[in-house]
Amino acid sequence: MSLAAADALPGEFAFTDADFEALARLARAEFGLSLATSKKPLVYSRLARRLRARGLATFRDYMSLLDKEGEGAERLELVSALTTNVTSFFREKHHFETLRSVLIPELAGQRRIRIWSAGCSSGQEPFSIAMTLLDGLPPGTRDLRILATDIDPAILRRARRGIYPPEDCETVPAEFRQRWLRAARDDADSLETGPDLRALISFAELNLICDWPFNGPFDAIFCRNVAIYFDQETQQRLWSRFTAKLRAGGFLFIGHSERLSGPALAEFTTAGVTTYRKRALPGPAQPS
Ligand SMILES: C[S@@+](CC[C@H](N)C(=O)[O-])C[C@H]1O[C@@H](n2cnc3c(N)ncnc32)[C@H](O)[C@@H]1O
Repeated sequence: MSLAAADALPGEFAFTDADFEALARLARAEFGLSLATSKKPLVYSRLARRLRARGLATFRDYMSLLDKEGEGAERLELVSALTTNVTSFFREKHHFETLRSVLIPELAGQRRIRIWSAGCSSGQEPFSIAMTLLDGLPPGTRDLRILATDIDPAILRRARRGIYPPEDCETVPAEFRQRWLRAARDDADSLETGPDLRALISFAELNLICDWPFNGPFDAIFCRNVAIYFDQETQQRLWSRFTAKLRAGGFLFIGHSERLSGPALAEFTTAGVTTYRKRALPGPAQPS
């Protein structure tokens, strides 16, 4: 038995250590995803359905397909399979409380307001931001926009539809549900988000590892439960790039199991649980 065959995982498709390493290199270089060796069985189970869908017999064939297709759709299927889209309305509620009680009073007198939901999944995060802003800001004409981006075009299509099963909407406060959710026109068993929420949000496809074709500055960036998939170097680069896109005093909200680290730390003060506020002037260097 060859070494390659011996270190393959048992199962439907041959998956050698060399295949895993090649896949891990690609996932890191293209998407910043961190795949430790211990994740090999998980990667196998997540990708087996892709090999089945493409009629392939081995992971080596799958790597060849990824190489051949270059930037093609299969690479996006790969990211979808290796990450999760789990999200919910008003997830990690304390961030919306900070938005309501600290940031909104400051924004109330500001003409231009920009918020970025980076890694927005199926849209519940930007819609929760939109409800909180519309509820808290005094009515009137102002230049208010929420940018909502994700790498996954399929999940963005769902976000743009803004239609959710009623059980997914249970975490929306009752008053907000009444004001902004209604029976979906195409599917009476589901709820859809109202036009005044949708009007605030621009959905766009964006790989956070690549260039960002917009300037900011943003008043707040929500990037929650996304960087958790990235290795530390990619995370630290991301935190620094967010810093550059935030205005002084702007907020960065991150996921419950994520922590700010690296050079960006000196630029922020802690403003709550997984909540950071950009200083007006760079602060002293802090240990990462
Ligand atoms: C677990 S969801 C988080 C959704 C939402 N932020 C929340 O906390 O509820 C993670 C999202 O990150 C997206 N994602 C993963 N890698 C990405 C990348 N390199 N660039 C942009 N989005 C990415 C996934 O497609 C997925 O929708």
